[in-house]
Amino acid sequence: MSNKIQSLSGYIHEYQKSVNQPEKFWARIAESFHWHKSWDSVLKWEPQGPHVKWFENAKLNITENIFERHLFTHGDKAAIIWEPNDPNEANKIISYRELFELTCQFSNAMKAQGIEKGDRVIIYMPMIPEAAIAMLACARIGAVHSVVFAGFSSSALADRIIDCEAKMVLTSDGNFRGAKNIPVKAVVDEALEKTTTVETVIVCKRTNADVQMVSGRDIWWHDAIKEESIEHAAESLDAEDLLFILYTSGSTGKPKGVVHTTGGYMVYTQYSFENVFQYAQNDVYWCTADIGWITGHSYIIYGPLLSGATTLMFEGVPTYPHPGRFWEIVDKYQVNQFYTAPTAIRALQAEGLEPLAPYKLDSLKVIGSVGEPINEEAWHWYHDHIGKGNCPLVDTWWQTETGGIMISALAGITPNKPAHASLPLPGIQPIIVDAEGNELKGNNVEGNLCVKFPWPSMLRTTYGDHKRFKETYFSAYPGMYFTGDGAKRDHDGYIRILGRVDDVINVSGHRMGTAEVENAINEHPRVIESAVVGFPHDIKGQGIYAYVICDAEGVTNETLINEIKNTVRKIIGPIAKPDAIQIVPGLPKTRSGKIMRRILRKVASKDISNLGDTSTLLNPEIVEQIIIGSQIK
Ligand code: PRX
Repeated sequence: MSNKIQSLSGYIHEYQKSVNQPEKFWARIAESFHWHKSWDSVLKWEPQGPHVKWFENAKLNITENIFERHLFTHGDKAAIIWEPNDPNEANKIISYRELFELTCQFSNAMKAQGIEKGDRVIIYMPMIPEAAIAMLACARIGAVHSVVFAGFSSSALADRIIDCEAKMVLTSDGNFRGAKNIPVKAVVDEALEKTTTVETVIVCKRTNADVQMVSGRDIWWHDAIKEESIEHAAESLDAEDLLFILYTSGSTGKPKGVVHTTGGYMVYTQYSFENVFQYAQNDVYWCTADIGWITGHSYIIYGPLLSGATTLMFEGVPTYPHPGRFWEIVDKYQVNQFYTAPTAIRALQAEGLEPLAPYKLDSLKVIGSVGEPINEEAWHWYHDHIGKGNCPLVDTWWQTETGGIMISALAGITPNKPAHASLPLPGIQPIIVDAEGNELKGNNVEGNLCVKFPWPSMLRTTYGDHKRFKETYFSAYPGMYFTGDGAKRDHDGYIRILGRVDDVINVSGHRMGTAEVENAINEHPRVIESAVVGFPHDIKGQGIYAYVICDAEGVTNETLINEIKNTVRKIIGPIAKPDAIQIVPGLPKTRSGKIMRRILRKVASKDISNLGDTSTLLNPEIVEQIIIGSQIK
């Protein structure tokens, strides 16, 4: 099976077909998968709901499309190459057949613990093969997985467990990350003090950390699988049955559970993987993301495995035990496609060229970027020093909500342009609109990015709150999906993503809602009010800057600032810790009480030459005080 586009004219041809007859186009792609029963209709789209269904009433199991379909040809091929945090520890190379057996065995173990189709299972695990097995086993039995990044705090974890009413948590004793040994199970224990729905916790041994096992609730992974068979007949699922929920930040304080379903997600992640990376059968592909994010779901696990690819999974961090670790791994496994985030590129660029010197990097054919706009300097460094000037660099724009890559070059097929995501994939109809929602046609236009027609891997709802789904994505421009990003179509017709236009900050490629961080800051007993904005950060892309009004009597600002940072770390996790906190006497507010964030953003960015109109402020004098405070901070 291959739906791989081979040439620029092939791309143009496929794109036109996908726009002129989308249903016919996707039916053709979907036919190359294994279904128990075919669909009654390819697409049902009700923009008013909005309700979208792809491949209605079709029956399938996504793991059969990974395993059974490939075993004849790929049984002995490496499915996962696992590289541990410590380079001196043995790696693991798991073939398709072995991964299949491990998945079946764990499917049986989960069923033995009472997990049924439709139950929600939280996966809070480090980057170890068992995390992949956990996801695949859920998919095999029809349980809905919700992976929570193992760097999130116990209260962030508890919020997610409560929201999806999870019945089971899959975790590990600990997590090796660089020089750190992080106690994972202890975080789960703390979270479960606040929740009521979890009946079983399965704990994988990784670090041998001392953990407390709660009798009747906790069971070791190795004990859970001990008696289980390595055979399991896949559950036949409906194309629109939930595959997973993944929580992501938005404009309000509460993270939302983005819902993806089975059939459309399968078709689109495989199709986009094969085409964007131009994967060829003996290639070794490596995506450095964590499985806690959508990139890990779609392009470490599902897209590559559905394509019968060899996918590399790395437990550690780019700079441990030395800043050449990524490049060492590329050479060690002769990686052909390498997919990472601009923040990692900038951090490694800052280490200079010395760490690169021992490595050839000559196996690389394609390099990729994801998560945030890649600035031109980082683009050129990546292209010249890692890709050695001869690898296509795919700058892939997409979101948790889109499920798969939406706008990107197809490696070596469509042209590259520095810092431009460039052209939509077949089946994707992005448009740029002005504030009133009018489509800005032609080139040299800039506005908000929307998608005007459904695609198979789009989110279906936000878990338990369809109203929020409608309000967040379909109310700014009725009938169209609004991405929350600004974009420009340049004079050549290539799309450049300009970044978020809502109250979301993109920190190291991770989304943080300003309201979410403010809520955490406000938990500190001395905090009266806070306002959080993003500001340009050399490595992270954007940093978090918090303006905080405090009752600071008897405490130094420094103590308060440290305490507030720790409060955020505790409530959300280290990734949300503000980079800068300024204690302020007040916040600039309009007469209706709205904080004027535009001014706060400018001050945080040290761009105070033109603050714009401040005449509508209730308290214009506060602006001067904030500027002075920012300079002595
Ligand atoms: O602002 C865009 C940015 O990341 C947001 C989506 O974040 P998340 O759902 O966490 O998914 C990240 C991984 C897919 C987008 O709204 N973004 C993602 N990729 C790019 C990007 N911005 C510019 N260029 C990209 N290639």
